Amino acid sequence: SLYLRLEQVREEERTRTAREVHDHLSQLLTTIKLELSLLQKKLPPSNLSVQKSIGQLLDMSDGAIQAVKKIAMDLRPPILDDLGIGEAINWQAKEFMTRTNIKCEFVNDPNYLEIDLERSTTLFRIFQETLTNIARHAGATEVYVVLSHSNEYITLQVKDNGCGISSDQVSNLRSLGILGMRERAMAWGGDVQISGVPDDGTSITINIKRDNHGSKKGGRKN
Ligand SMILES: Nc1ncnc2c1ncn2[C@@H]1O[C@H](COP(=O)(O)OP(=O)(O)OP(=O)(O)O)[C@@H](O)[C@H]1O
Ligand SMILES: [Mg+2]
Repeated sequence: SLYLRLEQVREEERTRTAREVHDHLSQLLTTIKLELSLLQKKLPPSNLSVQKSIGQLLDMSDGAIQAVKKIAMDLRPPILDDLGIGEAINWQAKEFMTRTNIKCEFVNDPNYLEIDLERSTTLFRIFQETLTNIARHAGATEVYVVLSHSNEYITLQVKDNGCGISSDQVSNLRSLGILGMRERAMAWGGDVQISGVPDDGTSITINIKRDNHGSKKGGRKN
């Protein structure tokens, strides 16, 4: 489908940008940092104001290096390409926990299934949107995430213990987050089920087909 193709192009762009930002910019910043510390050694320690400025510049370059790493990681975590969806979800869950202070427990599929990169990316992007929503709307203290599969589907379930989504909110056509989740899943012959219980949390179940019999492209590859 066109949707899937556009998603793929966007994802390739993110991967490329992430790599360029990471490789070029962090290289450059590391060189700046190195030159600064050489300069610091050459200058007389007695010149306090200059030493202080260089110290600040060194701190700033450290900050910039960290920021670049984070931006590259957010664009496209290499863990997704290198270690697969289970590890990527695990990493994202931990990152979410440190960032928001919301506990996030992940139970990986006990029967390991090799999932191709395109499906992994779909699941990962939907997962990120569910977490963003939880942080923004749920007021939850705990999230529970389960990855599993059956003969036909790969399933990701994300439950939170927040305020619960209403059916009006689920079907609100003006909000793009949930719509985007559905479209992503539908492109793989799957769906997204959402249910909320007031004050008892929201549960989101994402199913995508394991093989290509859904509305997935008919053999056209790039
Ligand atoms: N985990 C959740 N708990 C409670 N309410 C939720 C949760 N997730 C979504 N909602 C509600 O459903 C609505 C729709 O979510 P959706 O992601 O589609 O849009 P949004 O987050 O408001 O905007 P965006 O388009 O930026 O994603 C939200 O505005 C919020 O009211
Ligand atoms: Mg949203």
